[in-house]
Amino acid sequence: MILGRKKGVIGLDIGSSSIKLVELGESKNAYKLQNLGIAPLPPEAIVDGALMDSVTIIDTIRELIANTKAKTRDVITSVSGHSVIVKKITLPLMSDSELEESIQWEAERYIPFDINEVNIDFQIFGSSSENPEVMDVVLVAAKKDIINDYVSVIIESGLNPVIIDVDAFAIENMLSVNYEVEKDETVAMANVGASITNINILKNNMTAFTRDIFKGGNQITEEIQRQLHIDYEEAEKIKVGSKIDAASQPIIQEVLKSASESLAIEIGNSMEFFQSTTTYEKISKLYLSGGGSKIKDFDIVLQQQIGIPVEIVNPFKKIEYSEKNFDLEYLREIGPMMAVGVGLATRKVGDR
Ligand SMILES: Nc1ncnc2c1ncn2[C@@H]1O[C@H](COP(=O)(O)OP(=O)(O)OP(=O)(O)O)[C@@H](O)[C@H]1O
Ligand SMILES: [Mg+2]
Repeated sequence: MILGRKKGVIGLDIGSSSIKLVELGESKNAYKLQNLGIAPLPPEAIVDGALMDSVTIIDTIRELIANTKAKTRDVITSVSGHSVIVKKITLPLMSDSELEESIQWEAERYIPFDINEVNIDFQIFGSSSENPEVMDVVLVAAKKDIINDYVSVIIESGLNPVIIDVDAFAIENMLSVNYEVEKDETVAMANVGASITNINILKNNMTAFTRDIFKGGNQITEEIQRQLHIDYEEAEKIKVGSKIDAASQPIIQEVLKSASESLAIEIGNSMEFFQSTTTYEKISKLYLSGGGSKIKDFDIVLQQQIGIPVEIVNPFKKIEYSEKNFDLEYLREIGPMMAVGVGLATRKVGDR
């Protein structure tokens, strides 16, 4: 038993293709990996960020907890997709408590949902660099029913939900823990999942733009299914590299190539859109994460498309771990998929 170790937390990334668990504790100046796990979900368990099959999701979480032997019960999880909106806005200078009082009213102007049906949160980033009389605020609105579904699933799994975060923020957190981003640098992040690609552009270490693109690894699996007339499971195996007959190989290569190109174009379009709303802010780098970043040569295709360096993230770069308990190769292998989980587990309670 390690005495004096601070209480850890579980980052639980409930993705549509799999649930990812990362339990971190804190040693002196670093986070320490305690437990780790991935458990697959059937394709219809989560659709569009909505939990369709709670029973299966709860069973899967319980199994993950049992298999990983995670110790703490405190969980931070996140939502993304159509039910969440993140917006950078500028408001007249005011204090946290003043904004607390007027936020509902302010939010109504920016959020296309019924204001009574959403939870609103915000973070003030101080006076704007362009105009000292106004301040930058990042506004978050998430549909209450989705939040409630996530909370219930966690409670029914025997766990204690501490924070419900947003995928894009988790990635941002993961980046700040592991990478040095200069204060005046503008960088982009793309988290390519199975059904959603989360884009987050950071300027002055704050979110300047986020967008969820409803495309990811699933499109490729479906295309392979169509082309080879096979079922989903088989297509998924072929996509991640299992052997196929020589005749089918060119077909797979073509599917991977065209899907990579089309996703790269979409990511590029989001970056263009952000740039068109600024004075064509230079983005110096794109950090790529999510299982989709493992599509063969996708990082190269993306780099060619957007014309800036692309780096596949290693969320364990600055995380300590015991080599006895965790295999370096395995951590490398699953790293991109654990980006949200690590970002959640490194989220300081009371941060936002
Ligand atoms: N080696 C690989 N090659 C190609 N694709 C891969 C590979 N490994 C994983 N993937 C794909 O990555 C996707 C899963 O990524 P991830 O775990 O980030 O998504 P998710 O969090 O479950 O989904 P979402 O966030 O969209 O709900 C799947 O589509 C999977 O097929
Ligand atoms: Mg995901």
